[in-house]
Amino acid sequence: MRKGLLTIAAVGLLTTGGLTACGNDDSGDKAADKTPKIGVILPDSKSSVRWETADRRFLEEAFKAAGVQADIQNAQNDKTAFQTIADQMITGGVTVLMIVNLDSGTGKAVLDKAKSQGVATIDYDRLTLGGSAQYYVSFDNETVGKLQGEGLSKCLTEKGAKNPVVAYLNGSPTDNNATLFKAGYDSVLKPKFDSKEYVKGPEDAVPAWDNAQAATIFEQQLTTANGKIDGVLAANDGLGNAAISILKKNKLNGKVPVTGQDASVEGLQNILAGDQCMTVYKAVREEAKAASDLAIALAKGEKKDTGQTVKDGDRDVPSVLLTPKAIYKESVKDVIADGYVTKEEVCTAAYAKFCAEAGIS
Ligand code: BGC
Repeated sequence: MRKGLLTIAAVGLLTTGGLTACGNDDSGDKAADKTPKIGVILPDSKSSVRWETADRRFLEEAFKAAGVQADIQNAQNDKTAFQTIADQMITGGVTVLMIVNLDSGTGKAVLDKAKSQGVATIDYDRLTLGGSAQYYVSFDNETVGKLQGEGLSKCLTEKGAKNPVVAYLNGSPTDNNATLFKAGYDSVLKPKFDSKEYVKGPEDAVPAWDNAQAATIFEQQLTTANGKIDGVLAANDGLGNAAISILKKNKLNGKVPVTGQDASVEGLQNILAGDQCMTVYKAVREEAKAASDLAIALAKGEKKDTGQTVKDGDRDVPSVLLTPKAIYKESVKDVIADGYVTKEEVCTAAYAKFCAEAGIS
């Protein structure tokens, strides 16, 4: 398992290291003649802990290592604030703007404005549909969903579930990633619904990935299904934890497998305790490094060949897509070994016993 993670890291390095410079950009960007200054807008701090605990940390680390100036701000799920921050960054003279959009509409407005002012742009983690970012850096998000579907299926088999009812807690309807995750898990689960091996239960999208709302939604789903939900495809650890909180209230935790994503401390603890089936680990350090490498190249007026593109309508967006990895109880230790979370964070007193059982020493 350890080897698997190292492989991801190596692929990440190769991908980023493999970017090749294609000379100076002569499009007249103001990027070319300025000292690099990079602006980053993160989306919020509640839809997932990753933005503040991983992305900010690893982006700061990457910019610091490259010796460039950066301003990293968080829009706290406020679209108006998102636009204000972008305006301030543009006025303040950033050469590159990197955004994690809150929806494609405001994302596009920000990207187009930056472009009109000669500021280079990158879509970080979420693709802005109809946007104009020069690069898109993320993970293979359909694979993320596929790993979740396969994970749920594996855990249901282990529980010996017969014709299990599967509920969906999808991500935000305005996040293109949520669409990709669903395409991934549908590719695994829909054939099982069609063949009647599994039964499709209630399905809801959670606005803005709001964890509190997710708990209310899941409680409603459980009521609608008369308590008969045998598995929950939750699109990230926060939504998974919301479902687990309701399952606990109904003494069903541990009996009903729940998926997740982000390898958050809480998600990993839920896995160790047996309340969560799996999570998807995305090595954000590699994502931040790839984005930072591209931002620095853009700031210098260079163009890099990422070797890959993603379609957005008619546009081929040059992209870096890293490989996600499924994490189960026995591989929680690999996330710790990769330096994404620490043993101290995960193995608090209440989880010490589970950590020992999972070979985390
Ligand atoms: C990210 C996930 C995250 C979710 C909620 C998605 O766009 O890819 O990692 O859990 O947003 O913030």
